[in-house]
Amino acid sequence: MELDRRTLLCGLGGLAVGGGLFVLSGREGLAAEAAAPGKRFEQVGGDFGWQPKKLDPAECAKVAYEAYWYKGYACGYGVFYGIVGMMGEKFGTPYNQFPFTMFEFLKGGISDWGTICGALGGAAAAFALFYGRKERNTMVSDLFRWYEQTKLPIYNPGDMAQGVKGDIPGNVSGAVLCHISVSKWCYANKVEATSKKRSERCGRLTADVCSKAVEILNAKIDAGKDYKPMFAKQESVKQCGECHQTKGEETNWGKGILNCTPCHDGRQALTDKFKNHPQ
Ligand code: HEC
Ligand code: HEC
Repeated sequence: MELDRRTLLCGLGGLAVGGGLFVLSGREGLAAEAAAPGKRFEQVGGDFGWQPKKLDPAECAKVAYEAYWYKGYACGYGVFYGIVGMMGEKFGTPYNQFPFTMFEFLKGGISDWGTICGALGGAAAAFALFYGRKERNTMVSDLFRWYEQTKLPIYNPGDMAQGVKGDIPGNVSGAVLCHISVSKWCYANKVEATSKKRSERCGRLTADVCSKAVEILNAKIDAGKDYKPMFAKQESVKQCGECHQTKGEETNWGKGILNCTPCHDGRQALTDKFKNHPQ
């Protein structure tokens, strides 16, 4: 940490304000320092300054599932609490100072809009507490690719189930979006999107995403800058990207590296439903 005049003064328990000298106890001096970063954009603790801690994926998954149901705060809150909340439970500050409820906004893919799967949003946010995009993007890609191609949910809370007990069918969503992930599952299993069973599916999926995210975070803590991606570029992204995501190509129009397949392969669900529908 850089020792400037202010930190030095605070460290000594004094804070010079407007020419006068206020003598603060060590604790108050620290609080004054914590509340007042130096310049605009300068952040207390520095950019991405919090240090990540290793956790037990299975233990966190269980807590993420419980957090999902806690006051209905749901998927994003569940995963974020399962990671950063658990660091708080085990290591105290600064982790336990986080206003975790902000992640309720991810419920339903951000305020019920069905955009990004909230569980993934919560995990990416937790990664971003510790790592800037250069290091974080590989971690996010590993989690998102895994999600695209894994049959979920896997987690089964047994008798601790809070929505519906017993087995819940799984599916491969092929997509990271809440809308696609949930709607496909509901259609395949003929379950209402507003049902308890669908909530239970997302609660278990929250546990799965948390577990995988902790696994990735642990691996990153061990490997540091040598962290190697676990998943290669998605096949469709590789193929379509040759023309639509390559610098200099006149068709370089495609933004984002999410799996192109669910939306651009012309399947039944993507035909025009505004005419002669249902038949
Ligand atoms: C060999 C180069 C090439 C590849 C590979 C390629 N495209 Fe294209 N794509 C083009 C060109 C050229 C156009 C513009 C054609 C036009 O003017 O309609 C285009 C147009 C499009 C359009 C807009 C017009 C339309 O037909 O709807 C979409 C969407 C699109 N591509 C998606 C994809 C996806 C998804 C993939 C991967 C499955 C892909 N493309 C692979 C060259 C390519
Ligand atoms: C969640 C669904 C979804 C995914 C996933 C997706 N696209 Fe699209 N894409 C769309 C929609 C919807 C449009 C807008 C189409 C329109 O209204 O013209 C679009 C537009 C495009 C366009 C511009 C052409 C046009 O007609 O507007 C290209 C090129 C394209 N996508 C390529 C890709 C590629 C490459 C990928 C994979 C990296 C991809 N898309 C993934 C849904 C998707």
